[in-house]
Amino acid sequence: MKISVIGAGYVGLTTAACLAEIGHSVCCADNDEAKLNMLRRAQMPFFEPHLEEMVSRNYRAGRLQFEAPDSTVTGAEVVFICVGTPPLENGEADLSAVAKVARTIAEHTTGYCLVIEKSTVPVQTGQQLKRQLQLYSQKGLRCDVVSNPEFLREGSAIQDFFHPDRIVIGVEREEVATQLREIYRPILEQTFTCPVHSECTHAQKPAWIVTDTNSAELIKHASNSFLAMKISFINMVADLCEAVGADVTKVALGMGMDPRIGAAFLKPGIGFGGFCFPKDVQAFVRIASKAGCDFSLLKEVENINKRRIERLVEKVRQELWVIRGRKIAVFGLAFKPNTDDVRFAPAIELIRALVRDGAKVSAYDPQATEKARTVLPDIQYCSSPYEAAQEAEAIIITTEWEEFRKLDWDELKKLVTRPLVVDGRNMFQPGEMTCRGFHYISTGRQPESSTDNGVSITPPQELHAVLK
Ligand code: UDX
Repeated sequence: MKISVIGAGYVGLTTAACLAEIGHSVCCADNDEAKLNMLRRAQMPFFEPHLEEMVSRNYRAGRLQFEAPDSTVTGAEVVFICVGTPPLENGEADLSAVAKVARTIAEHTTGYCLVIEKSTVPVQTGQQLKRQLQLYSQKGLRCDVVSNPEFLREGSAIQDFFHPDRIVIGVEREEVATQLREIYRPILEQTFTCPVHSECTHAQKPAWIVTDTNSAELIKHASNSFLAMKISFINMVADLCEAVGADVTKVALGMGMDPRIGAAFLKPGIGFGGFCFPKDVQAFVRIASKAGCDFSLLKEVENINKRRIERLVEKVRQELWVIRGRKIAVFGLAFKPNTDDVRFAPAIELIRALVRDGAKVSAYDPQATEKARTVLPDIQYCSSPYEAAQEAEAIIITTEWEEFRKLDWDELKKLVTRPLVVDGRNMFQPGEMTCRGFHYISTGRQPESSTDNGVSITPPQELHAVLK
């Protein structure tokens, strides 16, 4: 099927490449000509594991092209809208890019067109989109508008596209759902050779959820807000654990055993960042407020998250007494591992706070240095963690890159002026750092528990065998 994808960002480029991978002929558009030229040279505008090889393979095979929006939508039968919806000053989603695409479709498309909104948009956007398309149509355009939210996580977006838990679509007419099933059939039936199979956690068939457009749009905002709420909840509990001498890792383990709670997204630390959670929670609060509903619960989720940075800086201050003039090494700039995305990254906010307090910051990240440099030009960027640690009076871990687990921490201890590690992602057990001679501060746990007395878990079936 000939498919157009408007927007070559984290969602659009991944969607275009994956749809081409499962056999569709895809034209991906962006209004940034420089980005299109990069893509035609198989250069990626951002890091996402496996994306580069998939884009270049499908581009060479002729299943994936890169064009300007006008030519892409002309004659298109299916258009995915994957443009950004960044937050406005008041927290509402900026829909100007979506409106611009609607106008382009209306002015360049004749006959029938299936318009699929994949961008994260406020509820009722689909209804607005339909009205705009009919209002601007000058060539007798007939169209359906579908809400098809994405649940891709940066760093595992390809796996998430090919092996989703569920595919959600919001339609006004049942027949439209049939068209969407055709587009997603290889994924619904898992009948294709997954290019990243070695890392796929499961190949079970996804659920196919058909709703109305408003409900589908709400599923996205409600899902992201709930996940963000889980994170702020465990961070709130972590602060209590520190105060009363408990271990939040064990609390989270005990909680997560309840399938109604689930173990995922109960990792405490410096808080959530990225271009989704912060803006989606904010937008959801605004959507509710405009509809006359009180979402103060989510306002508190935001407030808890915002306080994580100052809480971590306070821990550093308690250890160093004075921050001004001290050299501090920051390990990690991206908002999470396996991405180079620094948008709303906790590390960026943390470094701004440390620099405001007069610290000299040296930072290292395996992927995100170049993107961080555009927003934080005046700090020292290092090519290795060892270079960043030289003469540092504290090492702060802000992104849990796997490579940080494999560092030579004995070597790092020789390089630092003070053996202090403040771990914003609870990457290590306190015991394993204190036995290396570091003073180790983490989140929700006791700093100096020299031995990790662990948690014993006896699966029910084994316990019953013992009790017989
Ligand atoms: C998120 C949603 O997971 C995804 O479904 C949606 O489509 C887009 O938004 P993403 O923002 O890429 O994906 O990353 P995610 O893995 O969800 O992490 C978001 C933030 O939460 C990161 O800063 C991460 O460090 C933080 N986080 C995550 C925690 O602090 N604790 C956790 O337990 C999990």
